[in-house]
Amino acid sequence: MDSTLERIYSMSPEEAQAMNKHVMLGSGGHGVCFEKGKGVNLWDISGKKYIDCTSQGWAMYLGHANEEIRQTVYEHMGNLGHLNQNSDSLPRYALAKKLLELAPEGMDRVLFAIGGSSAIEAAMKIAVKNVPGARHFISLQDGYHGSSLTTGAASWLSTKSAGMFTGFNSFLSILNDVFIRVPNPFLYRWDGSANPEDCIDYCLKVTRETIMRSTSGPVAGIIVEPLQASGGQIPLPKRYLQGLRKICDAFGCLLIFDELQTYCRIGDYFAANKYGVTPDIMCLGKALGAGLPMAAIIVREGLEGFGPLGEEVHTFSNNSIAQVAALKQLDIIERDGILANVNRVGDYIGDRLRDIQQVFPQIGDVRQVGLHVGIEFVRDPETKEPDMEFAQTVKAIALMMGLILGDAGYRMNVLKIKPPLIMTIEEAEEALQIFTAAVGAASQKLGR
Ligand SMILES: Cc1ncc(COP(=O)(O)O)c(C=O)c1O
Repeated sequence: MDSTLERIYSMSPEEAQAMNKHVMLGSGGHGVCFEKGKGVNLWDISGKKYIDCTSQGWAMYLGHANEEIRQTVYEHMGNLGHLNQNSDSLPRYALAKKLLELAPEGMDRVLFAIGGSSAIEAAMKIAVKNVPGARHFISLQDGYHGSSLTTGAASWLSTKSAGMFTGFNSFLSILNDVFIRVPNPFLYRWDGSANPEDCIDYCLKVTRETIMRSTSGPVAGIIVEPLQASGGQIPLPKRYLQGLRKICDAFGCLLIFDELQTYCRIGDYFAANKYGVTPDIMCLGKALGAGLPMAAIIVREGLEGFGPLGEEVHTFSNNSIAQVAALKQLDIIERDGILANVNRVGDYIGDRLRDIQQVFPQIGDVRQVGLHVGIEFVRDPETKEPDMEFAQTVKAIALMMGLILGDAGYRMNVLKIKPPLIMTIEEAEEALQIFTAAVGAASQKLGR
């Protein structure tokens, strides 16, 4: 083993733990220390095995330590690594070509970025450039677009949704007030009529009214996750997305799809393709670089792009290693029919969870599209009162049993199953059995 690697991996658990106070996190706390991974599994430094249903920030589509990605990256690194943004290179051309082939017709330019938040901000800049005098953006309740000062201001982080200001509490005084939030069609929590179509109509009507009567100037764009992931795994109906498209056309503002999490995980390359709604700008990130940091925006034909005068410059926005990894990942996804697997295994998990729900009424709702799975826990299926304690107890017990689950939103009562896209039915079943045992144990522990 390489001597540097040897030094790293010979650290004792005590030495590692002692470093916790020197390694600052931006969210959450220190926990399990991982040493290696393979496929859907991770192992901690004591050798304990876990099934990873988070794909580590939903970013490892081909699982951990994918051998083909490793070989390709290794070979490429003998040629090139980091390049400045204004240095052209074949990997950037090749990846842009592939993304444009997959994107809806009429999208004709790609800009690479260093991460999700900066991609969203780049999209916002393009929108402002294309809507003269723009003063506002519309974003959605329960939406999440990042934690930079601007994207955090567009997200639920900076609202009082939880009954108090939470994630962005310390920064509220300097946040940008350009974002106006409108209601999202969260069908499970719609308390209007019994007809879910009324919820869609209501949300579209409020959005239209907001643009006409609640702004003091033109709106540059509507920013939306086609499936609101961090806010609670809330899929937005196709008719709603179509309605947003019409509103943007009517008012001359841009429709921006934040596809950071929907890219491939929704069971199609893009939600835009799946729902047949073409936005003006699509933002990608997360798993795009197969585990290497990178993001991108894809822009429709005819929109004004960035000029040469430093409108969007980032040192690491042209990393050829990440571009090669992204392209290799897409080749594997295509070759191995991974999108079909996403739909097959996702549907299996959704069906099994609805069976499990029959046994445990604490599960108020199961929401699944592709390998986007959210399980919402409630104190009572009638009142739908969120049960954060139950959800968090399930999550902690599952972790002890070797299953890593995610959680979502300010209510923290939604658990997420979003494994690598290569998960098999057998692996899904193993995860579901641990999940069921954890729900049973939580029910016993909390007496409900
Ligand atoms: C939908 C969505 N948009 C934007 C972001 C921000 O991306 P990043 O964390 O890479 O800045 C995230 C991250 O979780 C996300 O889920």
